[in-house]
Amino acid sequence: SELDELRHLAVDIAFEAGSHAQAARSALGPGKRAAHDTKSSAVDPVTQFDRETEALVVERLRSERPDDSIVGEEGANHRGTNDFEWHIDPIDGTVNFVYDLPGWCTSIGLLHRGDPVVGAVYSPPLGDRDTALFSAARGAGAWLGDDPIEVSTATDSTTSLVATGFSYHLDQHRVEQAERIARVLPHVRDIRRMGSAALDLAFVAAGRVDAYFEEFISSWDVAAGVLIVREAGGIVTTFAGNELDVRAPAGVLAAGHGLHDTLRKRIQTPS
Ligand code: IPD
Ligand code: CA
Ligand code: CA
Ligand code: CA
Repeated sequence: SELDELRHLAVDIAFEAGSHAQAARSALGPGKRAAHDTKSSAVDPVTQFDRETEALVVERLRSERPDDSIVGEEGANHRGTNDFEWHIDPIDGTVNFVYDLPGWCTSIGLLHRGDPVVGAVYSPPLGDRDTALFSAARGAGAWLGDDPIEVSTATDSTTSLVATGFSYHLDQHRVEQAERIARVLPHVRDIRRMGSAALDLAFVAAGRVDAYFEEFISSWDVAAGVLIVREAGGIVTTFAGNELDVRAPAGVLAAGHGLHDTLRKRIQTPS
């Protein structure tokens, strides 16, 4: 089908782009910090490898899919002529990339009229396609390599392992997020802050964490992962339980059916 061909394209480009970034990371040497500029704040890094990897993805997409739109974290903004829109994060988890920690990936998501229809997430530090390449196509399922994946069947929030992440805005966003964590932390098994929203969602899809929530994120962080979770049997909504606008994802909660609602009540701001 068309979507399965598009999934294969996303998978191939994610693999190629992730491998390119991994080669650059390896060339720096183990534990060597990558040079970087800052973006929205002093703690928000961007490297030449983020930019190079985005350029590689855009070039591949422009040649294979000249009519599609492309939005990328590092500035790609191409207006196409049809209803398909790629949202790409060349390196999701740049802080980990800079510090040579393993939690980073290349994320490529495709929306059709705003709805996620294809997603590919490749995390080179996790290995090759079979152990590190998560993908999905709408209506067709979610995979790690060629193996189908499913969200966890957990129903008890008090023993759930919950991934989250934090904004680069230290003053306002981080204070709100710290308050939310303080409300959630006493009621779950534990929290994981692995450093990549796209990988957090892929781990929900594969049942490696029970849930993920985060606010103040962007389309390219979640476009691929949201579909991978849904196709793995999970639910993704806003914190209020409403339908998520992937182009403007204020807050995202992803979990299996048995957990989503109880966890949602825990993380939602008390009113
Ligand atoms: C960040 C990561 C992180 C999340 C931040 C994102 P970047 O993306 O996904 O886990 O907590 O909100 O901005 O800058 O590394 O691509
Ligand atoms: Ca990101
Ligand atoms: Ca990024
Ligand atoms: Ca970034």
